[in-house]
Amino acid sequence: MRSAVKNGVYKRAAVCYNICMEYTLITGATGVLGREFSLQCLSNGENLYLTGRSDAKLSALRRELLESHPEAEIKIFACDLANEDSLGNLFADAQNLTFSRLINVAGADVQKPFSQYTHKKLTMQSRVNFEAAAAMCLFCLAHRAQKICIINISSLAGEFVTPYFAVYASSKGALTSFSQALAYECGGTGVTVCAVLPGAVYTRPDVKEYISKQGLWGRIAAKTPKYVAAKALKAANRGKTKYVPGVANKLLYFATKLLPPRLRIAACAAVRKNMQKDAF
Ligand SMILES: NC(=O)c1ccc[n+]([C@@H]2O[C@H](COP(=O)([O-])OP(=O)(O)OC[C@H]3O[C@@H](n4cnc5c(N)ncnc54)[C@H](OP(=O)(O)O)[C@@H]3O)[C@@H](O)[C@H]2O)c1
Repeated sequence: MRSAVKNGVYKRAAVCYNICMEYTLITGATGVLGREFSLQCLSNGENLYLTGRSDAKLSALRRELLESHPEAEIKIFACDLANEDSLGNLFADAQNLTFSRLINVAGADVQKPFSQYTHKKLTMQSRVNFEAAAAMCLFCLAHRAQKICIINISSLAGEFVTPYFAVYASSKGALTSFSQALAYECGGTGVTVCAVLPGAVYTRPDVKEYISKQGLWGRIAAKTPKYVAAKALKAANRGKTKYVPGVANKLLYFATKLLPPRLRIAACAAVRKNMQKDAF
């Protein structure tokens, strides 16, 4: 927290300064939802360690954030989460820092029939959506403050068997399951873990276009990044381990769970069948 630094408690040598300061690590900070989490954490007085693939995008984001919060401590490090060496470089860069919050926002929502995947695309999506998020948890647990709050941005899609979106739904389902298991393992140790399962969120232009074609219920259920980030932070701070933002999404979640399994899979397939996304 910046207030501790203001009080002069931790002002000694530069190394001690880094170790004593607490940071919030945000992956996918250069994305729409990641930028919103960055803004809200800054407003909470948190110091940021932001990552995304592009150094240019991260530098622009840092400049933008510093304009509204000139006193903030913001570190950036570009990293391809699907690349083990790149991930290793980030861990080396951050090894002397202490983290009190981790928000895994990065995700790859490639959507197409599985037979159209390449092995490389499969590896990339699986790693970004699950393995890298788990690796970040492992790193931050080893470099944590007395208390750490972990938020993993999963998806409502991860709760359902979803043909034509199979890798995304499966990897997000794994992230949700992992988050809840980790929350249990770490109970009472100062570590909280919350899986956040948004429905549609108004983020990239192609996602907004998808939402506009979803009819009235889809538009009612869709949420803004500001709403999702604020609710996720609140839920995580309250110690929730699994959180679905928005009443309409909660209703959709429970209603879909009530369908017989074969009908449920057919319904999920029908929503995804005529759409493909491959922007990564
Ligand atoms: N939008 C929705 O409707 C929705 C619904 C449910 C869940 N979610 C989840 O919410 C999260 C954010 O979504 P968004 O809509 O804000 O997406 P977005 O704007 O496309 O942002 C995705 C972020 O992930 C990063 N990323 C992707 N591949 C990466 C890689 N290989 N290495 C490092 N970073 C990588 C991107 O970095 P670059 O800037 O370098 O590309 C970007 O910062 C995702 O996990 C998504 O699955 C979204």
